[in-house]
Formats: sequence, C-alpha cells, structure tokens
Amino acid sequence: MRPFVIQSRAELAGLDLAALPARAEPQRVLMCTPEHFDVVDVKNPHMAGHIGHIDRPRAAAQWRELAATFRRLGHEVATIAGQPGLEDMVFAANQVLPGIGGDGRPYVVPSHMRHERRRGEVPHYRAWFAAQGYAIRELSADAGFFEGQGDAIWHPGRQLLWGGHGPRTSPRAYDELAALLRVPVIELRLVQPGYYHLDTCFCALSPAAALVYPAAFDGESLAMLRAVFPLVIEVPEGEASHGFACNALCLDGRTVVLQRGAVRTVAALRAAGFEVAEVETGEFLKSGGSVFCLKVMVY
Ligand code: ARG
Repeated sequence: MRPFVIQSRAELAGLDLAALPARAEPQRVLMCTPEHFDVVDVKNPHMAGHIGHIDRPRAAAQWRELAATFRRLGHEVATIAGQPGLEDMVFAANQVLPGIGGDGRPYVVPSHMRHERRRGEVPHYRAWFAAQGYAIRELSADAGFFEGQGDAIWHPGRQLLWGGHGPRTSPRAYDELAALLRVPVIELRLVQPGYYHLDTCFCALSPAAALVYPAAFDGESLAMLRAVFPLVIEVPEGEASHGFACNALCLDGRTVVLQRGAVRTVAALRAAGFEVAEVETGEFLKSGGSVFCLKVMVY
C-alpha cells in the first residue's frame, strides 16, 4: 500500500476514522464574478451543443441568487474578479484546495488544471489566498493533473480527503497530496465521462451522510463510500445527470443548497432530516457546473 493512500476496502479497514484529527470547517464562501463566463469549447460532455449559448444577464442573475442564498443562510460571501479570456474561472471549486494545518494556519494547494485554457485561472486564486495569509503548498511538476475541490473533497470535520480521479485528476496527485498534507486520501475511481469531477456524483452532507450517484463509481470505490457513510442517499440518474443534484453544498451539516427540480433527491434529503434550499443555476449547467462548483469555502 502507498503511504496514506487508500484504494480498497481492505486498506480502509485499517483506518480508524474517529482517531483522525478534527478539522475546523471554513465558514466563509468565495465566489468569482461571472461577467466573463462563457462556453467556448467542450471540456466535458455537458458543454456539447452550448458553445456561444450563454445568456450572460441570466447567468449573472442566477449567480446573484446563489450568493444571496449563502448570505441568507448566514455565510459571508467574498468575491474574486473574473478575468477576460478565462471563461471557466467562475467555477471557484477548481483552482485550489484549501485546508488547515495542525498549527491552525490555513493553506491552499494550487491545482494543475488538465485543460490549457483553465491554467491561467490558478495564479489569480493563488494571489487572492496569499493576500489572505494562506500558506501556499505546491505539488511537484510530476504530480500530474489536480483540479482542487472538483475532485478532492474533505470528509466533514476530519483531516481526511476523498480523492476522485479519472477524467481530470491523476492518481499520482493523491500520492503527493497525502505526503504533503499528511492526511489519508481515500481514492475513488470515476468511470463515466459525464461525471468528470467527484463533485458531480458525490456530496458529503455530514460525517454520517452523503449524496451519491452510484453508477459513476467502480465497485470498490462505491463499497468504500458505503463503508464510511452510514447513510448513502442514492440520487436517481436524471437528477444526477441533467439536474446536477450531487453538485450540492451542505452548510452547517443541516441545509442543503442544490439545483432546483431534483424532486426525489429533495424528498430523500427531507426524510433524512435536512433542510433544502433550491436555486436555479441553469446557465452554468450548460458548462457542466452547479452549486458546489461555483464556490470555495474559505477560512
Ligand atoms: N466547464 C468547466 C470544466 O469543464 C466546469 C467546471 C465545473 N466545476 C466543478 N467543480 N465540477 O472544467
């Protein structure tokens, strides 16, 4: 077994979740202003047929509704300015992975974006976090690709990462991340092109509950998710693919913000005791992104 990286149920059996250090959850939201958002190429299957079809005023209104929802739920929203020529910069989940060290100092790991057109986004985010006092922890040039919180998602409240790989992030990045951050990483293999980031098919709601679209994972990965989360809410196909219901954000372990219209997912969330705030992100769905993609939580 590679140090700290967990790839099977057998390796997972050796991990004592309760013994992992606690991790403070960031409470502020960072969003990137949408004035330069566009679909200019097809980086994921959801973008096909949408080149040049973004309604910018509508996108801006949806973005403002999302920011207002976060504020209404009690979370401060900071912004970073979108840049001309960086049409995907609005998806703030991807450019860095923020975390917090054992010394209480926050850090970010800058991404190594797979698509050339997205690489220019990273320096803008790096500068924003550096100005906020974050330490910058770099992956090496050999780490392969890494797309931040699109693929690397913290287990709620613990120093434990879930690491999706396949379409975007390279498994090698997790070997480096585990060593660099000294946290275990449970690797999840993504097997369908439409579920190109982990955040399109998985949402950690609380330490004990997750939204999952099962068919996006290989068998071993799904088994590891089920072994860790006592409650796995399975999202039906249409709500996961067109509705982006897994690309949700659970605030304070209680309120789930997600794209409007995922009727069965919403019913399952309410039955499990969660509150639900539905928002409209239709213009961003044309680019393969929704609620989770449009923000990064910051300390
Ligand atoms: N068009 C963007 C891309 O394909 C969407 C990124 C959405 N972000 C996310 N975290 N899933 O790169």
